[in-house]
Amino acid sequence: MAMRCGIGWGEAPAKAILLGEHAVVYGHPALAVPLSELRARAEARFDHSLDDVVVRVPDRGLAVSLSRDPHNPLTLAVRLAVEALHASPRNLELRLESSVPVASGLGSGAAVSAALMRATASLFGISLDPARLSELVYEVEKVHHGTPSGIDNTVVVYRRPVFYRKGSPPEFPLPGTELTLLLADTGQGSLTREAVGAVRRARAADPERIDSIMGEIGRLVEAARRALESGDAEELGRLFDCNHAALQRLGVSSPSLDTLVEAARKGGALGAKLTGAGKGGHALVLVTEESAGDVRAALEAAGAHRVTLCRVPRK
Ligand code: PMV
Repeated sequence: MAMRCGIGWGEAPAKAILLGEHAVVYGHPALAVPLSELRARAEARFDHSLDDVVVRVPDRGLAVSLSRDPHNPLTLAVRLAVEALHASPRNLELRLESSVPVASGLGSGAAVSAALMRATASLFGISLDPARLSELVYEVEKVHHGTPSGIDNTVVVYRRPVFYRKGSPPEFPLPGTELTLLLADTGQGSLTREAVGAVRRARAADPERIDSIMGEIGRLVEAARRALESGDAEELGRLFDCNHAALQRLGVSSPSLDTLVEAARKGGALGAKLTGAGKGGHALVLVTEESAGDVRAALEAAGAHRVTLCRVPRK
């Protein structure tokens, strides 16, 4: 392949699971949206003095190289992209910046991988089609999670609301109304691998109880898709609340998540729940344009470390 000069660019958004986390790992559907306010961005260039691939993250004072750290998710992402382009993984320098909080339920790993892969492909003057890119990001997700459902890579690559079921092609529901979401950070990191492992152990101990909760979550997701498409934000908020109760019973909430969820509801939210793996990370709160200010204040008073407003546009 002819090498081109210049710079390659790539970016990808964060994601939030509206409903269905954890149950999605066991074949139930989940509904998720991209969060364009939070992004990973990468820049790639050739450096012929490097017989290697180096990924730099200046904001964190971090540099990793493929030769020294071949299993690092950052170098792995670039290597997989280069191989998919039938090129060799050398002479490459990438710079990454990301406003997606890490280990907090917002798909940071998938966003970073997708941005690095897009930048690499763009440097070679090629664009990877979304299905292929999603598969490649999924390969890196396995390093982060062990047994990822595949929802994170799908949402960050397609950059559209997704109704996702493992093993089926993604579907793209069109929101009937704009959604206003507040993401409230508990300030506590959350490792997806650990939360998913805890659910796996709970299921091994009592499969009937856990499967019944997961079945219930799957039905909430189906109802939420209808509410999303018909633009019924109030119903969607009610379903957030039901999903949070089910996640509490799965054992993946935490005192700080419950405090934020409760404060959001008292502050006038349409609904609130944990999002992503849980046991820390972020609460996801559905508000109206009018209630957003009061709910934000309630979340801050309840100890949220940061509250980020995100909008999902009507299509
Ligand atoms: O916390 P995150 O952003 O990694 O999301 C995890 C979502 C789970 O359903 C818990 C796991 C998965 O692979 O879908």
